[in-house]
Amino acid sequence: MTTRYRVEYALKTHRRDQLIEWIKGLLAVPFVLHSQPTAVYQEHREGLQTVAADTYQRYAEIMRDVEKLIVDHIAHHDRDAPGKSKLKLLVPSVGTFFTRLYLEDAFKYQDEQRFISRRRFVAPSFNDIRLILNSAQLLGLVRSSQVQLVTFDGDVTLYDDGACLTPDNPVIARILRLLEQDRKVGIVTAAGYTDAPKYYERLHGLLDAVHDSTILSATQKQGLVVMGGESNFLFRFDQSSSDRLAYVPRDEWLLEEMQDWRESDITELLDLAESALRACAANLHLPAAVLRKDRAVGVYPVNGTRIHREQLEETVLAVQNTVQRSAVGTRLPFCAFNGGNDVFVDIGDKSWGVRACQRYFGGIDPSKTLHVGDQFLSAGANDFKARLASTTAWIASPTETVELLDELEHAVDG
Ligand code: IMP
Ligand code: MG
Repeated sequence: MTTRYRVEYALKTHRRDQLIEWIKGLLAVPFVLHSQPTAVYQEHREGLQTVAADTYQRYAEIMRDVEKLIVDHIAHHDRDAPGKSKLKLLVPSVGTFFTRLYLEDAFKYQDEQRFISRRRFVAPSFNDIRLILNSAQLLGLVRSSQVQLVTFDGDVTLYDDGACLTPDNPVIARILRLLEQDRKVGIVTAAGYTDAPKYYERLHGLLDAVHDSTILSATQKQGLVVMGGESNFLFRFDQSSSDRLAYVPRDEWLLEEMQDWRESDITELLDLAESALRACAANLHLPAAVLRKDRAVGVYPVNGTRIHREQLEETVLAVQNTVQRSAVGTRLPFCAFNGGNDVFVDIGDKSWGVRACQRYFGGIDPSKTLHVGDQFLSAGANDFKARLASTTAWIASPTETVELLDELEHAVDG
């Protein structure tokens, strides 16, 4: 029998971020108590201003209280008592924070951008809170730590889904600026190709700009790497190559734990994932073909069709469930995710990809690393795992990535 719990889980949990939902719930209370949906603008303009100020005050206070709970949560973690914090009690799925989050200041900043406290009909939303958290993280990096490495997801984060990073993309100037400031940059993407030309095709706008730059020093140019297949193929920038990239052999960058990943396990896991994907594709009549790669297996649509969101999600959850419950699934990390119009299972995940970049650049701390991505839901999303290795920002489009990088620049300038 399908229990209520399973229905709720299958339909909702993987599509919700518990911390964001919880904060949303807290802000809903002053919204309900203070908003004046029935007031008429012209007649009550002054009254409305007082109400807006009141609401602003309450929202700011709540964000300050959450900020304190996060400080306490970090302190518990530092005292080796993670899981005992009050925040963990309130939001059981909450993970580790590598820096403080300046939520009150971030709220004030975002309120200036989005006028959240002026709204009388629409309560603080998921996107309001996601953006407040991003701002709070940037402030945390700048005030309590520093940014030494920024890693970016590819699709949806740097360019539209399935598109390429072309020379007209405004993110290029921002990435060059990061390199100029002696920060390191990694593109940590699921796109898994074993050779440089394929990455050059996807990223040529950026790679050519770095190549042509007369401002960047040779060392600064070496601050750019591409990690493909989540954590499987590393390429460094190469000024002398026509593809602008050089493959870095695995023995130069693999983390110790990754050296224990056995080839036989990799094959076994991919075989299992492939059969689960095939079964799912047949069951759901997906207009899709199966693609088996060196370190991944996926289904993608044929003949320019689109796979429904529900079919994609069902496929991810089904294959994840199958692999997770297998013996090999407990020995080897993997990542099953919904790529927007395809489903892939990769060996490893972005936590390994980000950690490998940190190590490649000489051991950069998680508190000095920022991963920017669009996929942060707990299941079927591949940027989520980066939270284990670094601070993160959750963006919803390439435009938001550009805005985030400009906001970081302003925060650095103080
Ligand atoms: P990302 O957003 O940069 O992580 O890229 C995800 C997309 O890369 C997927 O949706 C796929 O369309 C594509 N892709 C190409 N090769 C692979 C692979 O080997 N594994 C996973 N995704 C791949
Ligand atoms: Mg993406």
